Amino acid sequence: MDTLTRRAMVKGGIASLPLTAAAGRIAAAERQGPDEFAALQSRVKFTGDGPQFTPPEAIDVLSRIVNDRGIDADYYSRGGVVTELEERMAAILGKERAVFVPTGTLANHLAVRVLAGADRRVAVQYESHLYNDSGDCAEVLSNLNLVPLAHGGGTFTVEDVQELFDRTASGRVTTGLGVIAIESPIRRRLGELFNYEEMKRISQFAREHGIRTHLDGARLFMAADYTGISPRQYASLFDTVYVSMWKYFNAPSGAILAGPAELLDDLYHPRRMFGSALPQAWPLAAMALHGIDGFEERFAAGVRASEELIVALDAAHGLRVERVANGSNIFELHVTGPDPRAYSARLALEGILLPAPLPGGGFALKVNETLTRRPVAAIAGAFADALGN
Ligand SMILES: Cc1ncc(COP(=O)(O)O)c(C=O)c1O
Repeated sequence: MDTLTRRAMVKGGIASLPLTAAAGRIAAAERQGPDEFAALQSRVKFTGDGPQFTPPEAIDVLSRIVNDRGIDADYYSRGGVVTELEERMAAILGKERAVFVPTGTLANHLAVRVLAGADRRVAVQYESHLYNDSGDCAEVLSNLNLVPLAHGGGTFTVEDVQELFDRTASGRVTTGLGVIAIESPIRRRLGELFNYEEMKRISQFAREHGIRTHLDGARLFMAADYTGISPRQYASLFDTVYVSMWKYFNAPSGAILAGPAELLDDLYHPRRMFGSALPQAWPLAAMALHGIDGFEERFAAGVRASEELIVALDAAHGLRVERVANGSNIFELHVTGPDPRAYSARLALEGILLPAPLPGGGFALKVNETLTRRPVAAIAGAFADALGN
């Protein structure tokens, strides 16, 4: 059991709390000693795309940034370190302009809002975040009509787009297909990737027909590691692209929306209209910039560790790994024997955190840089020991 967990349990009777509540309580209660801090930093977390810093870890990172390079504060999300982040991301993504937005939900919404113009239909995936998890913001707040494609799958085809385009053009009342939005990797499909060749065909079709395109690339920098296609290559197929600043660059929140200057130069007006010009965004921007530095190497090392781990787990009696077809950083682990929650609780006592079990059984484990915090053999050993055989 890691020191932190043991002390917290003794102090707070924490064993009775659900796991996520317990994790939060441990972080809040134990912020003093170096032992506790070291325990926090030795945790291997299969729960997210990045280390998901606890408050003590986030404050530690921020104070290191202040000491090492200083932070130039922004004013209402303009200037200072926010501009620095925007310029850095625009350069990486090969776009003229990048704008900081406090959430990815708003980045997607603002993107389709500014892209659509007079043509109010927006093609999206049935399984996308924009269609399912944004409270119909595009319909309710921006008078757009989202048309879902690819029911039961992740990738829609250029033929699907052609059909929607023709149907739209033949309607009794004139309307237009203004935007095609694609999400990849796809959150609701355990990180499945949109087929790249199809993406290229759709991008070509869109250019030929004057339809604008948006990429929800929340996890674009992770996808690059699995496909060998750089974020810039992906971004070149789309007018605008959104990338998360918190999922794996480790800011507490934040998103970047990048694209043509003509569309994004004045984006700070709608950003403010939606109440999202944070008066002080510098902690978010500074932490994101810090996370971007060296991300490629850290994540690649995590992926290498995960590939070794997958082999070791799959070889263990009582464990079985299932890869996601066309997947990225998520794999399923199926456990025979112990109750999944008890299994997860045993690993948590060793500082190895699993997400809640999947409804159909098993766990969807996320690969991230925390997998390099311990030797692969030690992690695999803990998974085998927790079976209690
Ligand atoms: C693919 C995708 N797009 C957009 C979002 C929204 O991002 P945020 O939580 O920053 O609003 C998420 C968050 O889970 C996501 O997974």
